Amino acid sequence: MIKPLRKAVLPVAGLGTRFLPATKAMAKEMLPVVDKPLIQYAVDEARAAGIEQFCMVTGRGKTALVEHFDIAYELEMTLRERGKHRELRELREGHLPPGAIATVRQQEPLGLGHAIWCARAFIGDDPFAILLPDDLVLADVPCTLQLAQAYQETGGCVVAVSEVPHDQTNRYGILDVAHDDGRLVEVRGLVEKPKPEVAPSNLSIIGRYVLMPQVMRYLERMERGAGGEVQLTDAMARLIGEVPFHGLRYEGRRFDCGDKVGFLEAQVAFALKRPDLGPAVRAFLKNYVHACAEPVS
Ligand code: G1P
Repeated sequence: MIKPLRKAVLPVAGLGTRFLPATKAMAKEMLPVVDKPLIQYAVDEARAAGIEQFCMVTGRGKTALVEHFDIAYELEMTLRERGKHRELRELREGHLPPGAIATVRQQEPLGLGHAIWCARAFIGDDPFAILLPDDLVLADVPCTLQLAQAYQETGGCVVAVSEVPHDQTNRYGILDVAHDDGRLVEVRGLVEKPKPEVAPSNLSIIGRYVLMPQVMRYLERMERGAGGEVQLTDAMARLIGEVPFHGLRYEGRRFDCGDKVGFLEAQVAFALKRPDLGPAVRAFLKNYVHACAEPVS
């Protein structure tokens, strides 16, 4: 029987050095894309896939991430008194049931694999999703829901994948492909950040996973991989053969919000999708880009 997917781990202990000074006193996952912080995109996406329990792997200076999901009674009262019903409704839609969020601390930055291992007591014997809030996916069907549906078909582990230019394989976890039907990819191996010359393919893992709890057994070994860190990819690779393991070419577009250009692209793409903002932003871009175009010599 395929166990239902109800848990998610959100690793949010990173320092966000690429966004200094914005992240000096603020968690990078609180940076908004349009008007919603990255962390809330991740939680909303997970909820749309049936996830009910969340574990944030946090570190120092990250309390705002947990507080963001508290009920802001005074604020709600003020909004009600002022007749701001739409704002109030939107705020309430974000409420999580009592007890839905747990946190664990990752005291030292030892890698993504180590962060996930910190959530082992929360996971117990259950399958779980991982969402890296830096990776934002614009999709008609939320990416984690696509993964959850694929997991219902295949069981075992399913990771979201997309093709990257060959010269960028050293930025991602890369698949060694056994069989590819164009949507689902049977995985034979995984390599973390291989150089282009030795990369087994150009299919990269994005920050969305459905994993089996057995991965914790391998993470526990604390073997150091690429960059001297405990890599999730290495522990997942050991599960191949033990449980079904697939990559899913998800439908949608991923933005790397851990990178300045990716973050700016996400702002534009998400704003253009919004009925209340799209037309004004599109008009601005057209005029502004035209005005800034380099003169043809
Ligand atoms: C992490 C994972 C990598 C994955 C990537 C997706 O890398 O280790 O396998 O492809 O996320 O964003 P990081 O971006 O933390 O270096």
